[in-house]
Amino acid sequence: MKGQLLALLQSGVYISGEEMSRKLGVSRTAVWKQLSALREQGYELESAPKKGYRLLSSPDTLLAHDIEAHLQTKTLGRNIHSYDSVASTQPLAHEEAAREAREGTLIVANEQQGARGRLGRQWQSTKGTSLSMSLLLRPDISVSQAPQLTLLAAVAVTRAIEAVSGLVCDIKWPNDILYGGKKLVGILTEMAADPDRVNYCIVGIGINCNQESNDFAETLAGIATSIKLETGNPVQRAKLVAAVMNEFEWLYDEYIKNGFAAIRPLWEARSVSLHTKLSARTPSRIVQGYSLGITDDGRLRIQDEDGQEHLIYSADIEL
Ligand code: BTN
Repeated sequence: MKGQLLALLQSGVYISGEEMSRKLGVSRTAVWKQLSALREQGYELESAPKKGYRLLSSPDTLLAHDIEAHLQTKTLGRNIHSYDSVASTQPLAHEEAAREAREGTLIVANEQQGARGRLGRQWQSTKGTSLSMSLLLRPDISVSQAPQLTLLAAVAVTRAIEAVSGLVCDIKWPNDILYGGKKLVGILTEMAADPDRVNYCIVGIGINCNQESNDFAETLAGIATSIKLETGNPVQRAKLVAAVMNEFEWLYDEYIKNGFAAIRPLWEARSVSLHTKLSARTPSRIVQGYSLGITDDGRLRIQDEDGQEHLIYSADIEL
């Protein structure tokens, strides 16, 4: 109910207590109690006789109702578990999956102290400024199709960032999101599968939102950036979580109904790793050459100096 109440207040214009109680089907007293709770949480509300209430500003908190206020989805993000500090949102999402949690279950955290990155690396997730979330999906796809979901996730996140902050980002295969060549977002897709079918997928998304330069570890200097550093404006993280869910859901529905064909051009349009010289470092080898594009299942095609084509499933790309 708090989320729905907040959704009504998002327009920024006055809305009366009576209208809110009618729209939500609850008493005026219940509305009033929730408004007081929101004020205590840091929501700034102006009230005027005969006009009602108007939302002036929102705190940058990540509680379920903060996110629900901006959600337009049917499934994704409709079961939110929000934490202040966790080691990593990934294992929590796996635990939810094991408990038969429904598709679209979302774990969000204000801070991660042991966040996991791709290829066994660490990921820096700073308290109060980064955005960390893990989304549970249960697609009926084969294991070989799973990389497509990773590419879909990158499209959803770039579109959400553009919608909320105006930043138009690049995607480096498979799903690093960059701005001006610096890393803004990391995506880690993990799955549980039977020999051929995917049982469930956890899409872990880390977005650098409101960090200042000195919030990043020295090793990330010149390599990482944040939305605030690039736009000069802080981003309301709950709004961004909801925007990611809103974009993800229509792309995912399209993917489940019609396959990767509709997603592929959207990914390609944002990609900086196509039709260019690059080097791919896989756990077992380095492949250098010219990238020819991606395969239907999302692998990267690289042609080496001898004209031989290599299909890359997972790697670190240097442009
Ligand atoms: C990368 O190496 O680029 C991927 C980083 C993925 C980080 C996200 S933050 C939310 C989720 N929880 C984790 O521990 N990792 C992912």
